[in-house]
Amino acid sequence: LRHFLSLDGLSRELLTEILDTADSFLEVGTRAVKKVPLLRGKTVCNVFFENSTRTRTTFEMAAQRLSADVITLNVSTSSTSKGETLFDTLRNLEAMAADMFVIRHADSGAAHFIAEHVCPDVAVINGGDGRHAHPTQGMLDMLTIRRHKGGFENLSVAIVGDILHSRVARSDMLALRTLGCPDIRVIGPKTLLPTGLEQYGVRVFHDLAEGLRDVDVVIMLRLQRERMQGGLLPSQGEFYRLYGLSTARLALARPDAIVMHPGPINRGVEIESAVADGAQSVILNQVTYGIAVRMAVLSMAMSGQTAQRQLTSESAS
Ligand code: CP
Repeated sequence: LRHFLSLDGLSRELLTEILDTADSFLEVGTRAVKKVPLLRGKTVCNVFFENSTRTRTTFEMAAQRLSADVITLNVSTSSTSKGETLFDTLRNLEAMAADMFVIRHADSGAAHFIAEHVCPDVAVINGGDGRHAHPTQGMLDMLTIRRHKGGFENLSVAIVGDILHSRVARSDMLALRTLGCPDIRVIGPKTLLPTGLEQYGVRVFHDLAEGLRDVDVVIMLRLQRERMQGGLLPSQGEFYRLYGLSTARLALARPDAIVMHPGPINRGVEIESAVADGAQSVILNQVTYGIAVRMAVLSMAMSGQTAQRQLTSESAS
């Protein structure tokens, strides 16, 4: 790795290496995350142009557990409010000797643009871009499934809700397909499903009860109202009535099915509190595994970037 922008095109071997590396950072038998010196002397810079609780904080923790120095730019109080462009903001951070950028942005493709055109010598990690990709969320979801279900063969996984606006759904579908999950289902109303879903090898359901039958994993998604336009969308009450995960509906899945959600959860909109806080919920485990996955991605991208720099300086001399 040099950058980590999307899961599209990444091999099964690479995804497995990320999961194995993340696993190595978790203390055996616990959810505790080890501290290691892999990024000592490096500076990781978090630049979030969109709000975040889990991703920003766990990237900070991941960098600290790798012994890196961490800067988090508060974009709302930065000089972007005085008109400074994304380009100039990042070039200035690069001049402060940042080795890695973790970027979240409302525009799809922002992280790619930065990696290719703004700061190609800094390793860029995508912390979520528009509705395009959230690759570290995809990988922490895969680590959660692997740790709770042992692997991906013979699994049925349902992704439920607002697929249209969800970068998490895209990253999850890509990762599940690459890792060999044989039954990936997406469940939602026609108005919240994108076109082109066949490229992900998924089965589409509009009826929640039908789609949930005998699944091993249920991934619930938030209604992303901030990305919605137009009047075709259901009210929150109507959405819960048709697509909300209640205890009764969860009973249609396998008895040992796990319930996941990337967060933030909207209780009573896409998920009942009794399910979110219940015995089958692994929602908070996902958050912990996110630290280990982000440690894996940061350390692997830094190694790749360092190797590339050495290669470039050798060929120049
Ligand atoms: N899952 C996720 O991206 O959460 P945050 O928006 O809080 O980072």
